[in-house]
Amino acid sequence: MTRVFSGVKPTGHLTLGNYLGALRRWAEVDQHRADALFCVVDLHALTVDHDPARVRRLSRQAATLLLASGIDPERCTVFLQSHVDEHTRLSYLLECVATDGEMRRMIQYKEKAPRERERGTSVRLSLLTYPALMAADILAYGAHEVPVGEDQTQHVELTRDLAVRFNQRYGHTFVVPKATHPKVATRVMNLQDPTSKMGKSDDSGPGIVYLLDEPDVVRRKIMRAVTDSGLDVVHDREERPGISNLLEILAACVGGNPEDLSGAYQSYGALKKDTAEAVVELLRPVQERHRELCADPGYVEQVLRTGAHKAREMARPTVDTAYRAIGLLPA
Ligand code: TRP
Repeated sequence: MTRVFSGVKPTGHLTLGNYLGALRRWAEVDQHRADALFCVVDLHALTVDHDPARVRRLSRQAATLLLASGIDPERCTVFLQSHVDEHTRLSYLLECVATDGEMRRMIQYKEKAPRERERGTSVRLSLLTYPALMAADILAYGAHEVPVGEDQTQHVELTRDLAVRFNQRYGHTFVVPKATHPKVATRVMNLQDPTSKMGKSDDSGPGIVYLLDEPDVVRRKIMRAVTDSGLDVVHDREERPGISNLLEILAACVGGNPEDLSGAYQSYGALKKDTAEAVVELLRPVQERHRELCADPGYVEQVLRTGAHKAREMARPTVDTAYRAIGLLPA
């Protein structure tokens, strides 16, 4: 059976972009067709300046939202990365296979390192080595497929390179994974800046719909979305990024495609109103389940404990094999 691994980093509140681009698909498709692992990759949240209490809060919240989105712990494995030591055990070996140059070529590193310096914080070494840990996340489980956004393709390519190199040098140990992107990807853009993606780590609140935003907050953000200078409602990502983003969000909520939907609207106002209501309805059941789960924190903790146990059992044999293959004696 195909094994699928993906992760979500607890560096900010999860957004509509995370839901439409990842979580919903994991719940509706991936967990049914594959042996899937979904991981809150909390160690990755420590690579930039962080507040321990916030990481704790966001990790718990991310795990709760995975469950609220319909990811079913009876069908797949849901866990926190830091609960399974195999990730860091393997990460070190991969650092011994990867090169310094390879790590420095990663686009995310090249973008994030200067940002840290601008803020006056020093760049953590873990920001550089983070792709080795991400590769370990994937390779420890022998995952075949890694559903991720386009921005993660380079990291998955590196993971493939490391797997192939390790296998060639030390004998066949790892499955060589591949990144997968849904055919019709929903790439939700920032409502205030529709040329950049709706990322959870961005600080600008008004352009981002969070999964836990109250209905009135969702409505306000969508009604105030930046639109384009034209007047007619057409789907054209290049020329009309604002309107196209709203059409795509609406299409993702109600089904159908953005081009067809555009024909139904004469004004931007009407499109915004329908999009706002569609998003409110989309989020309603997720928020309801989230509230129920928050009322029973013991349940979420139990799910995570069981998930970590299952994950450990899956990862340990592969990581042990890698330790033997690279030249380390059994304990
Ligand atoms: N780097 C990913 C991100 O920033 C998160 C991540 C960490 C991940 N490990 C992973 C995604 C393994 C898929 C598989 O979004």
